[in-house]
Amino acid sequence: MLAQLIEDNKASLSLHLFDTFAGMPETDTIHDLHQEGDFADTSLEAVLKHVNSAVRNASFINFHQGYIPDTFSGLEQHEIAFAHIDVDIYKAIHDCCDFIYPRLQNGGFIVFDDYGFGSCPGARTAVNEFFSDKPEQPLILPTGQAIVFRNSY
Ligand SMILES: C[S@@+](CC[C@H](N)C(=O)[O-])C[C@H]1O[C@@H](n2cnc3c(N)ncnc32)[C@H](O)[C@@H]1O
Repeated sequence: MLAQLIEDNKASLSLHLFDTFAGMPETDTIHDLHQEGDFADTSLEAVLKHVNSAVRNASFINFHQGYIPDTFSGLEQHEIAFAHIDVDIYKAIHDCCDFIYPRLQNGGFIVFDDYGFGSCPGARTAVNEFFSDKPEQPLILPTGQAIVFRNSY
């Protein structure tokens, strides 16, 4: 959907997709209910095929297979307009916040997909901890997601 939106609107944006594409990495027994290997029924090839088939020219789409935050390496100079964080587990969400928040454009926003999900208690903890000393506060949706708009005025 994001790829189609960018293409249809001729937006000069790139889309960066991060995952192991091979299942959850090690999880945290204190914060997380998910376990290593969950969501392993996928592959980079399957996602590539699906995403690339949704657009006419996929040259603006970048796949980063591997462990977050290692896969952020080399992208430090990027500005971010929008991030959809759907990694479910405590450490990965903290690592995403650490990298994405300082690069978020003014008015840019983050959606935390699993903030309110009972299956992802570490998500809420990580988001609440991260924003406890920030001027922005997560807006919590009745659907379980949380949104943060960057305000750097
Ligand atoms: C609920 S799935 C969502 C996958 C995809 N966004 C979707 O909607 O189908 C959570 C994903 O987070 C990924 N993930 C969690 N921690 C990660 C990390 N540190 N590095 C890379 N991927 C991670 C898992 O591999 C898993 O595919």
